[in-house]
Amino acid sequence: MKAVCPGSFDPVTMGHLDIFRRAADHFDEVIVLVTGNPNKHSGLFTIEERMELIRKATADVPSITVDWWGGLLVDYTNANNVNALVKGLRTALDYEYELPMAQMNRRLSGIDTLFLLTDNKYGYISSSLSKEVAKYGGDVRGMLPDVVVEAVQAKYRELEE
Ligand code: PNS
Repeated sequence: MKAVCPGSFDPVTMGHLDIFRRAADHFDEVIVLVTGNPNKHSGLFTIEERMELIRKATADVPSITVDWWGGLLVDYTNANNVNALVKGLRTALDYEYELPMAQMNRRLSGIDTLFLLTDNKYGYISSSLSKEVAKYGGDVRGMLPDVVVEAVQAKYRELEE
């Protein structure tokens, strides 16, 4: 059975990583799918940089692979025989955001979205908050995988130059 964990992952956090790893306990193959258009640079990291950071952070789990997609998610899942989408839920706000997407994807292709409850130690962590903390020199160790901590710090140093 094959699952996709979709998202923008700009950048991947410890919370995302925990969901990928737990998904890999339930599926033979987990594809982390970075969505977006590689030709339109929006966000801190390019699509390729985000993919590379996820590859490095999941290198010890062979059943996790990384791909990208610039179109409708269900076109990717149909073309690749994906059995389910897997996402994390932190709060009721996530639920409100995710519910219509899960229902839309099910209407469009019949695919189910399975939700894993975020581990409470990662419940308040998001890509955007950790970027804001890092931008002003705050300590983001433990919120982001080590390789991402270094990459975010390097990116902000680069932007300051
Ligand atoms: O990390 P994000 O930004 O919350 O992820 C949202 C994402 C990428 C899952 C959603 O925007 C998406 O599925 N985009 C692909 C285009 C698509 O299929 N849109 C309709 C979703 S119902």
